[in-house]
Amino acid sequence: MIIARDIETVRKTVRQYHEKNESIAIVTTMGNLHTGHITLVKEAEKLADHTVATVFVNPLQFNNKNDLKTYPRTPEADLKKLEDAGVDMVFMPTPEIMYPEGMDVQTTVNVPHLSEILEGAMRPGHFRGVATVVLKLFNIVTPDYCMFGQKDYQQVALLKKMIRDLSVPVEMHVVPTVRMESGLAFSSRNGLLTEDELKIAPHLYETISAMKKEIEGGRRDFAALIKEGTEKLNSFGFKTDAIDIVNADTLEAPDTSAKKLVILAEAYLGKPRLIDNIEVNI
Ligand code: PAJ
Repeated sequence: MIIARDIETVRKTVRQYHEKNESIAIVTTMGNLHTGHITLVKEAEKLADHTVATVFVNPLQFNNKNDLKTYPRTPEADLKKLEDAGVDMVFMPTPEIMYPEGMDVQTTVNVPHLSEILEGAMRPGHFRGVATVVLKLFNIVTPDYCMFGQKDYQQVALLKKMIRDLSVPVEMHVVPTVRMESGLAFSSRNGLLTEDELKIAPHLYETISAMKKEIEGGRRDFAALIKEGTEKLNSFGFKTDAIDIVNADTLEAPDTSAKKLVILAEAYLGKPRLIDNIEVNI
């Protein structure tokens, strides 16, 4: 496994892949790798001749300094997991390599509207940081395929639009959320939970799953359903930031023509802010 810490090393290696007409899949991550990330890697390996993983805690997408400071960093363990998973190359840059002139003067990618609603309204600048770093990583790695997890539902919608709008020559593959037996979605932020909070955390998925059943059973009073879900989560000890029920394709409030909805939930549990979602066919 090649460990590239600068852009030139990545470019040199991918040039060799391209010369042999071999395809590349990219898995972009912020490290502290878990089963969810490794599932993306395994799916990438099925698709392409070469899998390139990137590990970079992107400061540009953190609107909260403390979140950036406490974000778990485990580079050595990450490299071992990626090597065991059979990745061909890891790109592990520093902020200075990615943003040599500083973040204040960095050219950025703004995906209008989708970056401003829902999670974007709560985390100003977050999605601009995501779109910018992902496009930059695409330009460095020049992948044929990119893998993203459904766990970050709005991120997927936003990046799909960026790829479309800017004609980025990459094919996106979305991987369903990988969960523990308890239903809790794997997340790097789970490591910030105490033992007691870890027992409470599965209620996030359980609550949105119960909401899904209610909708499938015919309920359409979404505002009341959201209120009940919020109260339930808070009674377990969460501090719910938001629960939304939106059209899965547009992320807008559902009208009568919507065929597929998604329930998006964001809630603090102790220190970390956990997110999850579930689709509902109606
Ligand atoms: P990160 O949170 O490290 O996630 C990297 C990728 O793994 C994302 O595509 C995410 O959706 C996926 N992922 C995380 N947990 C998952 C799970 N339980 N099941 C399935 N997929 C999961 O998302 C980011 O990093 C960053 O925003 C990034 C795209 C790397 C840009 O900095």
